[in-house]
Amino acid sequence: MDIGFVGLGRMGRPIARRLIEAGHDVVVFNRTPGRIDELVFAGARAADDVAAVCRGRSVVVTMLADDAALTDVALRPGGLRDSLSAGAIHVAMGTHGVAAMSRIDAAHREASQRFVAAPVLGRPEAAEAGQLGIVVAGPPDASEDCAPLFEAIGRRTFDAGTRPAGASAIKLANNFVLGCAIEAIGEAFALVRKHDVAANVMQDVLTDGLFGCVAYRTYARIIADEAYDHVGFSATLALKDATLVLAAGEAARVPLPGANTLRDRLLGAIAHGDGERDWAVIAREQARASGLG
Ligand SMILES: NC(=O)c1ccc[n+]([C@@H]2O[C@H](COP(=O)([O-])OP(=O)(O)OC[C@H]3O[C@@H](n4cnc5c(N)ncnc54)[C@H](OP(=O)(O)O)[C@@H]3O)[C@@H](O)[C@H]2O)c1
Repeated sequence: MDIGFVGLGRMGRPIARRLIEAGHDVVVFNRTPGRIDELVFAGARAADDVAAVCRGRSVVVTMLADDAALTDVALRPGGLRDSLSAGAIHVAMGTHGVAAMSRIDAAHREASQRFVAAPVLGRPEAAEAGQLGIVVAGPPDASEDCAPLFEAIGRRTFDAGTRPAGASAIKLANNFVLGCAIEAIGEAFALVRKHDVAANVMQDVLTDGLFGCVAYRTYARIIADEAYDHVGFSATLALKDATLVLAAGEAARVPLPGANTLRDRLLGAIAHGDGERDWAVIAREQARASGLG
């Protein structure tokens, strides 16, 4: 496929690399130019701006930090909506709010373009290994056209229907569950540490049986080792997601008490200077609250 790619951060770089390695013709653009060098070396062509990344492309993927970045790249003059040809597809793979998805979907429809939301499940390591889960929602013909793209980067896709906002709701709800699990692991570790038990014993017990899945194994290890500087997903971006979860809940009148706790923990971590550490750093907040150094 001929693919344009905008947003070469922690997730965008390994995803774009998989597309290149699968033989797709990939043109890349990133706001900070130095981040595209390794992809150009791997076989991508560099574009100077968003308009150039759209030229002659039937699909353009965005993997951007937040709604503000996506809205700017998609809707500003000379952005995706102005530059994609009729019938071309914008695939948004970042984690975005339900309202932003609906707004961008409407803008692309007006321009006779197709918009697919395809937020991903998995950290950068999963992206490198082509093992992402991909939650897909959009016009069925567009989702089908993107199948070779999804095959190159994911272990499976989940069909979330035709409304892009639906894929966002699922992705946000899933991140909410994961965040609550990390919060619970942090609380549990603080409890046993206060009772003078080594963290690695708790890690072993927790991940041996009922909670032996990848999520608990990954985050119990990070928290036991206090390895918050090996960043897969930053606390700043996790706060963005917690805020989007609460907004989605408020819009639909769904109370989410756990999401409020998660948001406050992330706010505390960021206030303590840990915003660019891995979001598991919320366990350090619990440790502080428990009087642990
Ligand atoms: N990391 C994970 O484990 C993970 C997993 C699943 C989903 N996600 C989601 O995937 C998305 C990307 O995450 P990430 O970890 O790759 O983030 P990241 O490393 O911070 O990269 C963010 C990307 O967005 C670009 N960007 C930010 N603001 C921009 C703006 N105003 N205009 C243009 N470009 C802008 C950045 O460009 P610069 O290089 O110029 O800053 C960079 O390319 C987020 O929505 C995140 O929630 C992340």
